[in-house]
Amino acid sequence: MTNTFPTPDRLPSPGGALDLSGRTALVTGGGSGIGRACALALAQAGAFVHVVDRDADSAKAVAELTGGRAHVADLADASAVDLLPADADILVNNAGLQHVAPLTEFPPDRFELIQKVMVTAPFLLMRRTLPHMYGGGWGRIVNVSSVHGLRASAYKAAYVAAKHALEGLSKVAAIEGAPHGVTSNCVNPGYVRTPLVEGQVRDQAAAHGISEGDVLADVMLARSPVKRLLETEEVAAAVLWLCGPHSGYLTGTSLPLDGGWTAG
Ligand SMILES: NC(=O)c1ccc[n+]([C@@H]2O[C@H](COP(=O)([O-])OP(=O)(O)OC[C@H]3O[C@@H](n4cnc5c(N)ncnc54)[C@H](O)[C@@H]3O)[C@@H](O)[C@H]2O)c1
Repeated sequence: MTNTFPTPDRLPSPGGALDLSGRTALVTGGGSGIGRACALALAQAGAFVHVVDRDADSAKAVAELTGGRAHVADLADASAVDLLPADADILVNNAGLQHVAPLTEFPPDRFELIQKVMVTAPFLLMRRTLPHMYGGGWGRIVNVSSVHGLRASAYKAAYVAAKHALEGLSKVAAIEGAPHGVTSNCVNPGYVRTPLVEGQVRDQAAAHGISEGDVLADVMLARSPVKRLLETEEVAAAVLWLCGPHSGYLTGTSLPLDGGWTAG
């Protein structure tokens, strides 16, 4: 009988450096913020990284830093996704965008765009890369979800819907991938210090006539017991660990990096 559930022969010591040499990774939204930090971390661990972004300059800059390859693609366009590499051992579905508006005023085209980039593109990329992972008997899918994949907030209908959908998609990939040595997990950050969030802090401070510190404490971090922003490197470290040799038994999960938000 074929052993469809292979166990790793010998695992490296958990105390050693994580070695991904010989592995190929594809990181969407790799030009900025969390995606950039993930691309750098994966490359530092030895993986060859395909950096996918719609912003050509940032994709090229990160590819240069990592010694990987830049792919300029708009992930809202399914035909552009079809042209991306299929031979990734590691897929990090990270690209995303936000739109804030009450449901009654939420523009349907923005809603649809957010589902395309944050749900359909991850699905198409899994569909595209899983055959290669199955062929090699090893693969890692990490979906950069959000605390909003587990909790809702007002005015974020499209984003919350998309992140909850990504959670479901990730679990299906975990179940189907398990016999092939492929894991699929989500990471669920709270607010991360990226240019996007720093801009939101500045805008909200101006809009409400309060200090940036008060926006952080009273608005953004109100539900987080840890009163600071998360750093991109902290997210990348979790993603990297999920791509390593010691996380093969962890699949179909969601890892909250939320300062205790979902503990409450
Ligand atoms: N920043 C946060 O506080 C935070 C918190 C939780 C989850 N997240 C998630 O982390 C992920 C990355 O967010 P970030 O804060 O690093 O954002 P960011 O804006 O710094 O980076 C997102 C990247 O995705 C790219 N991108 C966006 N739409 C694209 C498209 N249609 N095609 C190709 N590339 C596209 C952008 O060009 C950009 O380089 C997102 O999925 C976001 O939802 C962010």
